[in-house]
Amino acid sequence: MVKMTVNSEALDYRIDPATPLLWALREESNLTGTKYGCDDRRCGACTVIIDGQAVRSCVVTVGQLEGAQVTTIEGLSADGSHPAQQAWIAEQAVMCGFCEPGFIMATAALMQRGGDANSITNICHCGAQPRILKAIARALQSAAPIPSRPAPAEPDNSARLSLGSSEEEHGLPNR
Ligand code: FES
Ligand code: FES
Repeated sequence: MVKMTVNSEALDYRIDPATPLLWALREESNLTGTKYGCDDRRCGACTVIIDGQAVRSCVVTVGQLEGAQVTTIEGLSADGSHPAQQAWIAEQAVMCGFCEPGFIMATAALMQRGGDANSITNICHCGAQPRILKAIARALQSAAPIPSRPAPAEPDNSARLSLGSSEEEHGLPNR
């Protein structure tokens, strides 16, 4: 039994604590906006915000999250009015839309914490990358200015969207 708050709702997951958060969200809570892309932290389609940081939910287990505050795309805003969502709409940064929730959650976390757009390493498998980059830039411009923190070391992965590495790749935030 693991207690956490998901989208402002107190939840008690009575499942194997080794279950990845991604599957608890999708299968136990029917929060299917969080997508399954690669299962090994490459694509970022499963990105959610945990205690203020963007985290790949496919590599975090429920058992690691006792007391955590989790936000998924469904909890970002009730009506799509979050500035990151509005930036996506303004830039029409969608083709199939599969990558969109993860990118938006990574962007929303960056808006809260400050930092460099290059820290978002999510991947779009369609051709929406140029518009996604514009949407990220637009969203960050609309965020209140927060001092940037140094970006973490960048892994060499040429297949990625031409951005750098991200906090979520380094696992859970310090809690
Ligand atoms: S499903 Fe691709 S990073 Fe989690
Ligand atoms: S719009 Fe299809 S994967 Fe990004």
